[in-house]
Amino acid sequence: MDQERLLRELSEFLRIPSVSTLPAHNQDCRAAAEWVAAELRRLGCRDVEFLGSDTHPVVSGKGPDVPGAPTLIIYGHYDVQPPDPLAEWTNPPFEPTIRDGKIYGRGTADDKGQVFCLLKAIAASPRPPINFRFLIEGEEEYGSKVLFDLLKREPQRVRADAVLVADMSYVAPAWPAVYTTLRGLCYAEITVRTSKTDLHSGEYGGAAPNAHEELCRLLTRLKGEDGKINIPGFYTPVKRPSKAELAAWKKLPFTEKDFLQKRVQGKALVGLKKYSVLERLWALPTFEIHGILGGFTGEGAKTVIPAEATAKVSMRLVPNQKLATVERQLAAAVQRFAPKYVTATVRFLHGADPAQIKVDHPAFTLLGEAFKEVTGRASVPARAGGSIPVVPALASAGAPVILTGIGLPDDRLHAPNEKLDLKQLWDGIEVFRRFYELLGESR
Ligand code: BES
Ligand code: MN
Ligand code: MN
Repeated sequence: MDQERLLRELSEFLRIPSVSTLPAHNQDCRAAAEWVAAELRRLGCRDVEFLGSDTHPVVSGKGPDVPGAPTLIIYGHYDVQPPDPLAEWTNPPFEPTIRDGKIYGRGTADDKGQVFCLLKAIAASPRPPINFRFLIEGEEEYGSKVLFDLLKREPQRVRADAVLVADMSYVAPAWPAVYTTLRGLCYAEITVRTSKTDLHSGEYGGAAPNAHEELCRLLTRLKGEDGKINIPGFYTPVKRPSKAELAAWKKLPFTEKDFLQKRVQGKALVGLKKYSVLERLWALPTFEIHGILGGFTGEGAKTVIPAEATAKVSMRLVPNQKLATVERQLAAAVQRFAPKYVTATVRFLHGADPAQIKVDHPAFTLLGEAFKEVTGRASVPARAGGSIPVVPALASAGAPVILTGIGLPDDRLHAPNEKLDLKQLWDGIEVFRRFYELLGESR
């Protein structure tokens, strides 16, 4: 493997600031799509196309036809999350830098580095006898609307022998994984209005309602101090993992103490204390406040009673919860918990149903063998706390969706100083090269 050349090429991809949620980066998203398309053409793909017109296109392509060979869809995303807070990066987010065997930069682990790995594993000859299909999207971090619409219009695009998604991590160093569930997501803005305009807090304070105060109270009614979410009906469909699954998690190299000290790096963990931390992360839904807008937040002081306040919130959903139901439940709970004298509204931004994947198809065994040959350990089943909105749609034609990845749990996805360990990348290329070979031979 010409590692230097590969790092040069990966850096080129990482330098493109393809932040899908910020309109100022629309051109950059296009440039990242072009980079993927060029790469697919280099792999000998035909019909390399940009699909979906409104926003960031899905890059699709077909590898050379191999009659009788299995069809494998490779899914990934070329978009990234915003890089802020910029001041906390050691090197600028879009100037990839190698230090101590790791490459730092936005998108190194999520997901450009992993897309790169899947593609370079194909180029690492001999050419595997597989009919490759590529669906590399540019809106994963933003709800995947274009790809959803495409798959609704053309459901045959997910007909295949398997779908490979590398957008996750090992459960721990030297512990590769395949994931049996992903959480879903319901992202919303809750707005509270208390008066026609802002009011002088001297003239009105003590008698006029305050939008921020009302919003805070509303939020604490939705989720209590004990971590319980009080949206009526919210937990009803939630099932506990089986005894066998909970027992299997106990064997994973995960301790709550390390999770607190090394990963969260805080002083205490919170949430529903009667469940283990892994159960809280993997099998229970959440309610998070991402930001609160409104009122006076500039420098200095202004004495005002804000008339309006908005909270950006999201809920992670677990198997058997339905996005559409949760949207209705949240909207109803907000009306129920807001006092009569405020106007409360909910606006839904994007969302995803949870995904549940059976890992008994032979393709999972082949991937396990490939991991075992390269890393010394076969992939273990685990669950994921994060979301990939289109996974249920990718599974809709019955192909097994293999959720895996080459990252490590400390890669700092979406945060400053995101990184990918180079050993993970080199091993990853070997793993997928071997997986393609085994899959090709399996016919
Ligand atoms: N790669 C992540 C999803 C992920 C992260 C799965 C960690 C498992 C473990 C993906 O790029 C992501 O961040 N998804 C968003 C989706 C959302 C914006 C619709 C997420 O989970 O917040
Ligand atoms: Mn991702
Ligand atoms: Mn992400």
